[in-house]
Amino acid sequence: MLLVLTDVQFEDRPGWTKAMLRRVAKSFKVPDFMHPERTARDFGATPEFWFGTGKAGAKAHMDSHVQATVSVQISGRKRWRLMPLRQRDAPFLAMIYSDGQPYENDEGWQPLFEIVLEPGEGLFFPPGMIHETMNVGDVCASSVTFQFNYPYAARFYRRFFPRVRYTADIGESWVLIKEWARLGLHGDKKGKGEPYDQARQRADVGKHFAKLDKDGDGRLTEAELSFLDSPAINAIAWHDLDGDEAISLEEFREGFAYWSDVTSSAIKATPKEWRKFQLFGTIENLEDIPQGLAKKMRQAALAEERRLKAAKEQQSEL
Ligand SMILES: [Fe+2]
Repeated sequence: MLLVLTDVQFEDRPGWTKAMLRRVAKSFKVPDFMHPERTARDFGATPEFWFGTGKAGAKAHMDSHVQATVSVQISGRKRWRLMPLRQRDAPFLAMIYSDGQPYENDEGWQPLFEIVLEPGEGLFFPPGMIHETMNVGDVCASSVTFQFNYPYAARFYRRFFPRVRYTADIGESWVLIKEWARLGLHGDKKGKGEPYDQARQRADVGKHFAKLDKDGDGRLTEAELSFLDSPAINAIAWHDLDGDEAISLEEFREGFAYWSDVTSSAIKATPKEWRKFQLFGTIENLEDIPQGLAKKMRQAALAEERRLKAAKEQQSEL
């Protein structure tokens, strides 16, 4: 049986002081390969400590934030099991991976990775990873978890964009990805996208590229993209397929059309009355959709997935 940790916010409790947090931040050294000059603030602001006895842990869930996570084991041992988000047939507009829900979904709980962290070891995982923890052994286990933004997991988002765009639990990333894909190209405020061929043929994509390419060398670099809201390194990671750390016109055309196509197909596959929730500006955060409506949306998407799956199976039998 799994025991759930009680979430105690020490920040609000007597005895907890800012000085203690500073001490924690001071004794944690961000390793060089994690860009301490850009991530120190994230690491200083997000430590979460977890204490628990044997068999205590967190039920399987996906965090809805868009940052990557690092968990460092301080004492005791903790088992982690992780499952990547899967390919879907129907788009989801309501969360299906909140605490404990992965055990009940049709797809089942099929962790792909299992690891036991020993004291001093750390685990890194990208956003969108479903995870479950359990302390192993009888002693009190303690660990500290951090989230960080620099860089965002932009290559992960590019590689798995259809899964990401069809899974509401990670819907916070949709706004970010739109910015990377468009590089500030005007229009499409609501993020509707358009079919691939149409997007590939757009004349304004080429014009926009030429405008951004200040030195005219045919490559967009970090300096030329410094106007973006999130560091340019993320947008470059989204587009850059040949690994030269810059964006060519062809890469921009492709990265833009790919985003556009997946986005428009997610919207098209959503029942008409709910399409507005797929668009920016309707609702700040998908978590704010009223519970009754969210339940209806979830059930409709699950039913649609079952229908599409059955249709596929029937097709392969013929
Ligand atoms: Fe979590």
